[in-house]
Amino acid sequence: MRLLFVTSEVFPLIKTGGLADVSGALPIALRSLGVDIHIVLPAYRGIRSQCTPAKRLGGLKVFNDIDCELYQTTLPGTNIPLILVDQPALYDRDGSPYHHPQHGDWQDNPLRFGVLSKVAAILANKNNLLDWQADVVHCNDWQTGLVPYYLKQMGSSVKSAFSIHNIAFQGNFHPDWRHRLTLNDRDFQPEGYEFFGHVSFMKAGLYYADALCTVSPTYAREIQTEQFGFGFQGLLQHRARALTGILNGIDTQAWDPSQDVHLPVHYSEKKLGNKAKVKQILQEELGLNKDANCPLLGVVSRLTHQKGLDLLLEIAQALIEQGCQLAILGGGEPKLEQDFLGLMQRYPGKVSATIGYNEPLSHRMMAGVDIFVMPSRFEPCGLNQMYGLRYGTIPVVANTGGLADSVSGGTVTEDGKLPHNMTGFVLPENTASTLLVTLQQAIRMHANFGHWQQLQKQAMKQDVSWKTSAKHYLTLYQRMFKH
Ligand code: ADP
Ligand code: GLC
Repeated sequence: MRLLFVTSEVFPLIKTGGLADVSGALPIALRSLGVDIHIVLPAYRGIRSQCTPAKRLGGLKVFNDIDCELYQTTLPGTNIPLILVDQPALYDRDGSPYHHPQHGDWQDNPLRFGVLSKVAAILANKNNLLDWQADVVHCNDWQTGLVPYYLKQMGSSVKSAFSIHNIAFQGNFHPDWRHRLTLNDRDFQPEGYEFFGHVSFMKAGLYYADALCTVSPTYAREIQTEQFGFGFQGLLQHRARALTGILNGIDTQAWDPSQDVHLPVHYSEKKLGNKAKVKQILQEELGLNKDANCPLLGVVSRLTHQKGLDLLLEIAQALIEQGCQLAILGGGEPKLEQDFLGLMQRYPGKVSATIGYNEPLSHRMMAGVDIFVMPSRFEPCGLNQMYGLRYGTIPVVANTGGLADSVSGGTVTEDGKLPHNMTGFVLPENTASTLLVTLQQAIRMHANFGHWQQLQKQAMKQDVSWKTSAKHYLTLYQRMFKH
């Protein structure tokens, strides 16, 4: 099976969220199943200097007015071929892959990701740059949504799978872009890439891909409803037979409390005592009062409406009055950032808010806090709850998407036993008062050393690796290829 994996971010080179983690870990798992895989990524500023010296594959005319150079290197730490699309005017800039450092989205995002999509479609076919042709192209999110369209436009027989990591981000642009991107006018219609009068990259992916996948079985069902479909529920119902939900895994090497390079001391399921030491050192690092017994609640997240952290803000005072500490690491909407900073000022020693992106601290937080809070309004998969499970940091999650598929809730039975499959707490509904009640249950259990340790061990035993899910992807590719 020869697979071209197209993505706009990949760990450890460039990351804004879970897509990078998936793009960095799934290919490794697929490779170990014997898949011959190449990854395609834009050569953003600073990428090449992080890789082993790249070989120039050659130049490519993408559109009439756009050429690019292609370089091949490997994903750091692996021997997986990584093809970089080098077009300095589009990709060699400061800022994130999607946003200007100050003012919102890059205005030429349709061109930037149109070029990525077109290059991937060309590379997947027989071409004179790569001595290699794909059987299947795996595209990820709207940034790669035009790949399936370009493949059809070229009359290619290469199959495409399109993964939805978050249907809320759709890549909808002014209709004039279709000319610049060489999309056929006749397909600018509901039976095509048009979506409410716009050119929609997401729509193109959903409409033209041979197979659709998303990152958890529950989210696959949810996006077929009005509440979660963001306008695409009708199309997804129509394509339901082509849609599969496969739960993400995590990189169990990078996220392993017994060898995590970012931790001051290591621990494991058998040596849980050291987790308390990480908590103590984390409290010091974050300026929190040194208190071994207080429940330390943690959040590492983009601060956006999706993540539901406004609910946590509503009940923060009540939690602190009950003796909890709160540690937040995240960035995003200015109002949420300000609110968490304000909370820290009001409760020195009890609340810590770190605004920004900090990978090493995210590992220490994952290890040092007791309870990880994710009251997301929707969550296609979510990775932090799985990092939490692996680190014996008990997740308290909303009953949605991959959160519902990866965390098993429960309560102590009347005869004082903990259900054997319980690994965390799941909110019966997403309101501030329910979040408070559920966190109080978790806090009560935290005070019971025996139960808490059992829960931690059960959580740490859960298989959150890519092993099973990668097999599901391979089966999916093989099925497409046979058709
Ligand atoms: P999403 O992709 O919707 O943001 P996920 O839970 O799938 O949510 O993945 C988020 C990833 O980004 C996780 O690896 C998480 O640890 C990381 N992350 C989010 N915010 C930060 C931050 N401020 N600092 C470091 N890592 C972060
Ligand atoms: C998206 C989703 C998140 C998911 C990630 C990786 O960013 O918001 O839930 O875990 O993609 O698939």
